[in-house]
Amino acid sequence: MNDLTAPRLYNEYDRPHADVREFLARIERAGELLHVPHADCNLEMGTLAEAVNQGGKSPPALLFDEIPGYPKGYRVFSGATNSMRRLAITMGFPVPNHPLDVVRAYRDRMKNHEPIPPRVVKSGPVLENVLRGDQLNVLKFPVPFLHELDGGRYLGTDDLVIMRDPVDHWINCGTYRVMVHDARRLGLWISPGKQGRQIREKYFSQGKSCPVLVSCGHDPLLFLAGGNELRFGLSEFDYAGGHRGKPVEVVHSEVHGLPMPAHAEIVVEGEMLPGEFAPEGPFGEFTGYYAGGKSDQPVIRVQRIYHRNDPILGMATPMRPPSDFSYSKCVMKAGMIWDEVERSGLGGVTGVWCHEAGGARMLNVIAIKQAYAGHSKQAGMAAASCQSGAYLGRFVVVVDDDIDPTDLFDVMWAICTRCDPAEDIDIVRKMWSGPLDPRIPRGATSNSRAVIDACRPFEMLKSFPPVARATPELRKKIEEKFKDVLSRC
Ligand SMILES: Cc1cc2nc3c(=O)[nH]c(=O)nc-3n(C[C@H](O)[C@H](O)[C@H](O)COP(=O)(O)O)c2cc1C
Repeated sequence: MNDLTAPRLYNEYDRPHADVREFLARIERAGELLHVPHADCNLEMGTLAEAVNQGGKSPPALLFDEIPGYPKGYRVFSGATNSMRRLAITMGFPVPNHPLDVVRAYRDRMKNHEPIPPRVVKSGPVLENVLRGDQLNVLKFPVPFLHELDGGRYLGTDDLVIMRDPVDHWINCGTYRVMVHDARRLGLWISPGKQGRQIREKYFSQGKSCPVLVSCGHDPLLFLAGGNELRFGLSEFDYAGGHRGKPVEVVHSEVHGLPMPAHAEIVVEGEMLPGEFAPEGPFGEFTGYYAGGKSDQPVIRVQRIYHRNDPILGMATPMRPPSDFSYSKCVMKAGMIWDEVERSGLGGVTGVWCHEAGGARMLNVIAIKQAYAGHSKQAGMAAASCQSGAYLGRFVVVVDDDIDPTDLFDVMWAICTRCDPAEDIDIVRKMWSGPLDPRIPRGATSNSRAVIDACRPFEMLKSFPPVARATPELRKKIEEKFKDVLSRC
């Protein structure tokens, strides 16, 4: 095991952060946090998230405070995991030098990852304030209105929507958008096929209401777990516990006995009644469009609100990428696809990257060292259809191991020179997509995939023309000799 594979190495820290506050202190020490006073939740926070994340190489996380109309200390936190360093701190990996370091560390840890179920505790900071009856008002928090064409204010973006499967009784936590209808009613949008939607349908098909918690502001590791596809039946709490090396602490909610993170900042408890719908959306989404439009979606009737003193609301702002979470999604998706493809039995993978231009879903690249004819096609098909790579995909590109999958120029060069379109591009129809896909007709929920084999054909490996590039030794020698010239370029 090298140092990247050691499980639960918490950088300079010897234990996982307890909550979002300790995480904030850690990223502040790492120079990765920007304090932003006086930004209004009406469009200013969303637009600042856009400007910061589209403006430079390594955007910091943003902590909004002194928000007009709200008590000082009521804060909003954007971009928690959206850099190589913050991701490494979140996951407890050594500080990386290259994006693939984090992806590889994730893949390597998953070889030994054992889910750890949450530990139920009687109390926790989330219970510092428990609101019932007339006190219920989700707008006591600085809920942002993110983009100009949105249909409302969104409490849930960096959230965990927690539900119990009524048949198998496992707990699913998914990140799904949650719009505010009014002080005590929320709209929840879940795309067809998502596990939370399957669970909700089980309640509704039996004519039962569906109990639900919405946690907003928690250990960013839970956001990474909730926002990426895990295998059906694996609770995100158990998955996150496995990464922490210790259980996530949860307390049971008052009304439905659902587990909520004991250190969460804000948790809303409620239920969705079968047949009760209200217009939800539109919402600017991660593909860069308002494709889902406005539609009737189930309503959460709020029954309790739990929150810490001076609560910190998490915010993740989907938009034309890059966004305040798209980088972290690239890394997580890439690690998960690499892990799943290898679990399917395929060897020889040397790297995976899901590009931000494709929202970390629509342009995924897998690099392999070819070992047999058909290897590259097998890799492409597996990456296109595994659980973490299946939803709303579009293009999967397979490249040889001399190509850096994170480098779009390198990838495009491989496509241009090693892929014969008629021979090497396969179209797979009727794959998992959904209303957020801007290219498919409204109402459709499936799309097609292009699996682009941009590897040298296996049969031509020996005869493929050599690459016209100096050998590393020659390059080094000449660069050394002419370093004065080169330093002036
Ligand atoms: C910031 C963010 C927002 C998301 N919003 C939604 C959403 O509104 N609806 C949805 O179905 N999926 C959304 N997703 C994707 C889901 O979180 C993801 O597919 C996750 O795997 C769903 O959980 P599940 O697999 O347990 O269903 C979002 C992801 C992120 C990171």
